[in-house]
Amino acid sequence: MRFEDKYAPRSFDDLIFEDAEVKQKLKYYAENRRHKHLLLYGPPGTAKTTACVVIANQRQPEGTECLDILEASFIALDLPSQLEKIEAGWIAQKRLTGVDHPIAVINEIDQLKVEQRHRLRAFIDKCRHGFLFMTTNHLASVDEPLRDRCECIEVGSLTSETLLERAYAIVQSELGEVDHVEIQKLIETANGSWRDALLAIEDYVLERK
Ligand SMILES: Nc1ncnc2c1ncn2[C@@H]1O[C@H](COP(=O)(O)OP(=O)(O)OP(=O)(O)O)[C@@H](O)[C@H]1O
Ligand SMILES: [Mg+2]
Repeated sequence: MRFEDKYAPRSFDDLIFEDAEVKQKLKYYAENRRHKHLLLYGPPGTAKTTACVVIANQRQPEGTECLDILEASFIALDLPSQLEKIEAGWIAQKRLTGVDHPIAVINEIDQLKVEQRHRLRAFIDKCRHGFLFMTTNHLASVDEPLRDRCECIEVGSLTSETLLERAYAIVQSELGEVDHVEIQKLIETANGSWRDALLAIEDYVLERK
């Protein structure tokens, strides 16, 4: 199993953000109490995609999972048929699992061309069967009307203090002991990103195992 998968958040409680308000806002979605299109934006590696997938899964009935996890650069190759597929998937999910508000996750929404984003907007207005959870690193590249149809939540870089507790726990479980000073130094190189932090921790563990 890939190192980052081994330690990936599995449930909403495992998610860690810099700003407590982000988790508070997202909680309503995870609890299936808030039904809106969502746009998470912020720098790389801050758990935007992870949050969308974990929350989408948490909303699903027991024993089922969200199957629509898409990359905008991929669906851009044939957007009309991909949007039809999303809609058909939502209708099928409603029928098969009884879920009221199915979710599709679309990563890096800024990768759609302007006219494709217009098309997505029209899809959002027309299709009432489900909700889109989207992510981007570049909010400014997402046009205003599309943003306006979503709850936009900024997921900011993580400080070392926020990354550290989890980093200690991972090192502890891998090596059975933690050198707090060394791990602090290591995490300072992580650019506020979970991805970079995990890479640094994996290297550190590999050197010592
Ligand atoms: N709380 C956490 N504990 C451990 N690993 C985490 C945590 N949150 C996220 N990760 C891991 O960090 C990595 C990056 O997360 P993710 O891909 O969700 O970031 P992102 O914000 O979508 O990045 P990008 O903007 O580059 O797409 C993933 O491997 C994910 O499993
Ligand atoms: Mg992502």
